[in-house]
Amino acid sequence: MLRRFFLECGNFDLVGNNTPVFFIRDGIQFPDVVHALKPNPKTNIQEYWRILDYMSHLPESLLTWCWMFDDVGIPQDYRHMEGFGVHTYTLVSKSGKVLFVKFHWKPTCGIKNLTDEEAKVVGGANHSHATKDLHDAIASGNYPEWKLFIQTMDPADEDKFDFDPLDVTKIWPEDILPLQPVGRLVLNRTIDNFFNETEQLAFNPGLVVPGIYYSDDKLLQCRIFAYGDTQRHRLGPNYLQLPVNAPKCAHHNNHHEGFMNFMHRDEEINYYPSKFDPVRCAEKAPIPNKSYTGIRTKCIIKKENNFKQPGDRYRSWAPDRQDRFVKRWVEILSEPRLTHEIRGIWISYWSQADRSLGQKLASRLNVRPSI
Ligand code: HEM
Repeated sequence: MLRRFFLECGNFDLVGNNTPVFFIRDGIQFPDVVHALKPNPKTNIQEYWRILDYMSHLPESLLTWCWMFDDVGIPQDYRHMEGFGVHTYTLVSKSGKVLFVKFHWKPTCGIKNLTDEEAKVVGGANHSHATKDLHDAIASGNYPEWKLFIQTMDPADEDKFDFDPLDVTKIWPEDILPLQPVGRLVLNRTIDNFFNETEQLAFNPGLVVPGIYYSDDKLLQCRIFAYGDTQRHRLGPNYLQLPVNAPKCAHHNNHHEGFMNFMHRDEEINYYPSKFDPVRCAEKAPIPNKSYTGIRTKCIIKKENNFKQPGDRYRSWAPDRQDRFVKRWVEILSEPRLTHEIRGIWISYWSQADRSLGQKLASRLNVRPSI
């Protein structure tokens, strides 16, 4: 669920997802997540034993699994899907007042999912069914719409919770930090050249505008540089000149030349500042200030709290929804290549989230829980 805002002051990319949380909290682990999720490099087959082996080292992934293997894990189509900015960003007023913020998109036509059986039929009949649905809805004037909500937190409250608010494996409880409506997005037009407007798109969580800034979320910090890095490789160093990526507002910088430069410039001044060139800097915008003391170190965060939110979410579901979750877990934990040890770790994790969930898994898999 990615959204780009072409604003008067530049582009803001909200490069999000349809889950509000992510598997890991430290970006250094991202290549391993991707390797584990991708097909086996030997067989080119995606295999759950590899995924569950790797993630058995990551109890912080549990809450994300509570979206992946819940009913919302198979959205009916894009129109009926929620979206989340996932990370904590920062809102900064002109006077420098700072609030932590999370972004949420809610579809006005409601959230709808496919059952596992329906998904086989719908996806089997047309593997592009969701794209077709979106296209057809827009073509017929039934424009998909999302409301945009934010949750905000005073940074002074950062330490008041039993979890770390900048930990991307956690949600912010909506009863304490309510959703506030701030806008709406209507898709009233489709692109007319897929390659130009989709293949060559380069979304980047590093693209923010005055008033919106990053937070110290460790995963976000890695994403800030990773996207531009890959895009320079994927599309070439001048990818920001492509119409789909260039800001719509007046802008001027001295980044030019390199492969595939297609911007003709006949200026003699390509440095700043210069008495020969009247170009001015954009108006200064405040960014969050924070002083730190202490030793910079690489360590596990203090409030890991990996099991409470997954347990709360599981308990919030009706019994039939819980059953479907259990069934999906029994299915993947039954993979013959999973060892007894790995199966035991997962049962122990889910038991710590919710005792009855762990017991159900253990009894259906015929394993004795180890806690
Ligand atoms: C440290 C963790 C992460 C790293 C290093 C990372 C890195 C990347 C990179 C390099 C790409 C390819 C971009 C391109 O070729 O244009 C990508 C794509 C993407 N990532 Fe991440 N990612 C991370 C976590 C996440 C998370 C948490 C989300 C969701 C909130 C996410 C959502 C996406 C999306 C939606 C795309 C497709 C972007 C596009 O097509 O332009 N990623 N990621």
